[in-house]
Amino acid sequence: MIDHDPTDLVRRSYDAISYHYRRDDDDAGPYGPWIADLLARVPAGGAVLDVGCGCGVPVARALNAAGRRVTGVDLSAEQVRRARTLMPAATFLHADATEVDFPSTAFDAVISLYALIHMPLRSQPALLARIATWLRPGGWLLAVTGHDAWTGVEQDWLGSGQPMWWSQADAATYRSWIAAAGLVVESERFVPEGSSGHALFWARRPDHGKDGRLALDANANAEVIPTGVPDGRPGRRATRG
Ligand SMILES: C[S@@+](CC[C@H](N)C(=O)[O-])C[C@H]1O[C@@H](n2cnc3c(N)ncnc32)[C@H](O)[C@@H]1O
Repeated sequence: MIDHDPTDLVRRSYDAISYHYRRDDDDAGPYGPWIADLLARVPAGGAVLDVGCGCGVPVARALNAAGRRVTGVDLSAEQVRRARTLMPAATFLHADATEVDFPSTAFDAVISLYALIHMPLRSQPALLARIATWLRPGGWLLAVTGHDAWTGVEQDWLGSGQPMWWSQADAATYRSWIAAAGLVVESERFVPEGSSGHALFWARRPDHGKDGRLALDANANAEVIPTGVPDGRPGRRATRG
């Protein structure tokens, strides 16, 4: 139980643990293949939105260096301050992602890694529906979500001395929310962590073209991971994100 607004707790804790969570010079680690897949799907000069971008390391850093136009949004003032310092060519908004809006079809891709799971459950399907409108037809969503449903607080997260709050649905629920948003799930993977893990989704806004038929552009589909059902191991929630 917490006795105050959970979003405030998340904001204050990420302000406090920003460097504990991610250093300026951290490498891409397990994000490397995801970034490579994203670069294969988004052409040079393409626009990418990172929802819950953190300090911008490693995703915004890599995309920016590879010539993609990055916009990040994050709840934590400290995460945004660092991102602006580290990636001055990108755009970072200090805002609650459940309250922001962007023009329709503004982005070639939207990514959100380990961030939806810190937002109130009731806000998440509506945010996914808005994300779908921000994507151009044929644009991609890459999201790391919960795999097992759980809402709660950990008091000393990652040994930082700070509490953290999560509110996550299970993978099947995220799959249904993404589909309800009008996106087509192209692949789904289980990302193990400790005794549990997260779900990773690639989904795409259909491009029906002028004549109403589904049209997928060739270059973006080059490295699609086969659609699969995660191995669905039960277990304790993962607390990586
Ligand atoms: C686990 S970190 C992940 C950061 C980055 N996506 C990554 O994978 O390295 C979660 C981030 O989501 C941000 N966040 C949590 N709730 C948010 C909200 N409602 N709006 C925007 N950002 C939020 C946090 O401030 C934090 O920087």
